[in-house]
Order: sequence, then C-alpha cells, then structure tokens
Amino acid sequence: MQPFDLVLFGGTGDLAMRKLLPALYRRHLAGQIPPGSRLLGVARGDLSREAYVALVEASCRASEGSLDATQWPAFVERLHYLSADALRPDSFGAIAGFLAGRDEVTRVFFLSTAPALFAGICSQIGRLGLATPASRVVLEKPLGQDLATAEIINQQVGAAFGEHQIYRIDHYLGKEAVQNLMALRFGNALFEPLWARGRIRHVQITVAETIGVETRGSFYDQTGALRDMVQNHLLQLLCIIAMEPPASSDADAMRDEKLKVLRALRPITGAAVLAKTVRGQYRAGASGGKPVSGYLEETGVPVDSGTETFVALKAEIDSWRWAGVPFYLRTGKRLQEKVSEIVVTFEDVPHSIFGPSAGVQSPNRLRICLQPCDSITLTILAKSPGDGMRLKPVDLSLDLAASFKTQQLDAYERLLMDVVKGNLTLFMRRDELDAAWRWIDPIREGWAQHDASPKGYTAGSWGPAASSVLIGRDGFGWHGEL
Ligand code: BG6
Repeated sequence: MQPFDLVLFGGTGDLAMRKLLPALYRRHLAGQIPPGSRLLGVARGDLSREAYVALVEASCRASEGSLDATQWPAFVERLHYLSADALRPDSFGAIAGFLAGRDEVTRVFFLSTAPALFAGICSQIGRLGLATPASRVVLEKPLGQDLATAEIINQQVGAAFGEHQIYRIDHYLGKEAVQNLMALRFGNALFEPLWARGRIRHVQITVAETIGVETRGSFYDQTGALRDMVQNHLLQLLCIIAMEPPASSDADAMRDEKLKVLRALRPITGAAVLAKTVRGQYRAGASGGKPVSGYLEETGVPVDSGTETFVALKAEIDSWRWAGVPFYLRTGKRLQEKVSEIVVTFEDVPHSIFGPSAGVQSPNRLRICLQPCDSITLTILAKSPGDGMRLKPVDLSLDLAASFKTQQLDAYERLLMDVVKGNLTLFMRRDELDAAWRWIDPIREGWAQHDASPKGYTAGSWGPAASSVLIGRDGFGWHGEL
C-alpha cells in the first residue's frame, strides 16, 4: 500500500463513528495505512483536532473493546480534522490547503453525508480543482429516491469526477459471505450444470432483521423497505446468484453481467403489483423476549404513516437460463430472527422408485447463510437406518468461518481498502443503479395507484400472512417458516 489521503465528509456522523473509523483503525493494525497517509475528518462542528481524536478514540474503543496502546499513537498521528460547511463555499479553502502539494498521492473523498449535500461538496471539489486524476469519490446510499433523483445525483457527482472515479457503496457486496457466494459459483464446476431452469425450481432471498427503525424513524419513513433494502442489497444478491459467469473478475466484466440480470428482470407494473408484492408494517409485539412498540409509535414516524417496513415479492428473470424460475425476495424489520440467506430449491426427482412408504421426498436444497452464520448447507435425502426404505433429509454442512479460523474483515474494511487500491469490482456502476431504480419505481407507482397500504404484522413474527400466501400460491413456502 502506498500512502494516501482520505477526506471523510460527515466525519463526526453515525456511520463514520460506528463503522468507518473503527474499520480504518483495524486496517491500521493490519499495516494497511502506511506512514505518510492522512485521514481527515470534515464536519460542520467547530472541533479542535484533540477533541476529534477523543471522539474517534471513544468510538474505536466502543467498537473494539480495547485499543492497542503501542499502535494507537501512530493511528492518531494520521488523524486530522477540519470544519467545513457544504453549503458555504468559502469554508472549503482549508481543505484545499490541507491537500495542496500532494496531487500525485491517492486521494479519497468519502461522502458519508446526506445525499442532499453531495452536489454542494462535489461542486466545491471541482471548483477548487481538488479532483486530481489520482482521486476517487465514495458515495453512501441512499443514492436517490427514484430514477429521476438518482440521475440528478449522478450528474452532479459526474460533473467533478469521471465514472471510473466514482465508488457507489453497497456494503453487502463487501461482506465476506457475499464474496464466498462468488467463490461458490465461479470457483467450482460442480454447481454450474445445475444452475438453471429445469434443475432449479425456485430461489428465495431473505434479509430479515430483528431491530426496528431505532433512531432513524424520520429518515426511514421517507425511505421504506423497498428503497432501503430491496433496491440495493437484495437486488445485488439476486444478481450474484443469477448472473452469467463473467469472463474475468475485472470490475466491468462483473458489472456487465450483473447489469444484464437487472435489465432482464420482468417489470412488475399496474395490477401485477398487487399479485406479486406484499407490503407490511410492524405493529407492537415482542423482540428477544421483550415487548416492543409498533412502527407508528416510533420516534420521528407520523402516526398515520403508510411506509412499509416489510416487503416480499416475486421476481422473474426473462432469460434462457431463468425462464420459469421464480425468485422470491423478502426483507423486513422486527422479524422473528436476524438472518440473511439464499435458499435454492432444486427440482423434484423426475420419477420416484420408492413409493409412498418411503415418506415425503422433499427436493434437494442448497442454503447459503450469509449472516449471522457464514455457512453452506446442502440438503439431500438419505435412507433412514432400520427396516424398510424410509427416506429422510440430511444436511451436508460447511461452516466457512470455522473452516478458515481466521478473523473476517468487516465489509467496510474491505471496501475502504478497495477504494484506496482502485478496485471497482464491489461497487455499483451508474447503469446498474439506474437499472435497479427502473425496476423498483413501477412497484412504488403501482402501490400508490392501487392504494396498497401496508398490512400490519406483529413484531417478532415473519411478516404479514399475505407473504406466505404470495409464495404459497405457487405451491411453495418460505424456508424457516415451514
Ligand atoms: C442498511 C439499511 O443499508 O442495511 C438498514 O439502511 C439495515 O436499514 C442495514 O438495517 C442492514 O445491514 P446489515 O449489514 O446489518 O445486514
């Protein structure tokens, strides 16, 4: 690693304190922030460098438990702070002064701010000539509310940076388990012949959370589960499962293939929205054995809010590989368990030789658990010991974390270092983002046209009953609920 400068806008914000700075500290411990690198926190608050260091220390301590006394001083040496206001152009002079004379050094601008500030920040970066050829800009979601607003952000950021300099973060792509998904598909010849219609019956992608909206009520209410989770994380998972093998792991080769999946998604429009999607909103219930309030009682949420905290939908991909194979997507807050998983159910045997006495012959299933575990489980049928021929499902399980016994990188650690190294593979390209919005927007429009207000579900459940009806209509059930 060569020394680099990282300018963190929103440097005192929640993401910076909870995730980014602890991730940078861990990379420092791993020797990836070489001497001569500088980490500049930028925020509106008028803080001294010492006060900023104290804030960072508290957040790293909270995240890591304890700090390495021998390494901490060198990390502090790299930390700096400047106050600037994205809405006051004159306040950027100090940042320009800080960066002056280091045009050859890799320069990362991380915009961990409200998207409304992206334009102001990028126009100052452009005006002051700070976007050198060695510069990159990192954008955190939400990247727009819909296609139109996403395009405005892309144009504003694109006025200062070339597309090859723009890193749009989807932190799911930085997760070890998601990388493993790529290894599973493209590092093994075993699955490829099975990975298509005729072999796979259906695919489920679930990202379930037990938490509610916590302190983000007013932000979340403007967003909802479809935009917060489906437009990005779930669609990216779907892309990785469904994409054609790329010619290489080169960023554009990967992103070209993901884009083809997004473009092949059958639009869900008009009345089909009612048949193929379910919106839900949590009501009071229990989580982890404790009573919790409903969404409408959360701070910052209007009492008559119609925002969804749960979405289930049936996606179809119009391609030779996937014609007729439904992909069921489901995500929600205040669900029964925190789990992110992909469940691939294979076709039934074409003809059973065993007869009814063998018991129910459930199809083979591959479950890829992304979190909280990082495991792959293949369910096969085996003969149950004893007299007669009774078949029982048994699991072939692989616990990836236990197999490798090394500590996993946090998603932000990997993504931050990829930005510094200039590796765009795990970041969304503009056309991917556009294609995702193009598919999502009609769903929202359909909900508005057909007045599809969210169905209530009890906190701690698996979402509204309509979600089971959605998948049940095709003769299937959600994994974990059966
Ligand atoms: C974020 C969403 O992108 O992902 C949050 O804005 C959600 O609402 C979070 O809680 C889930 O991420 P993870 O890594 O905990 O699965």
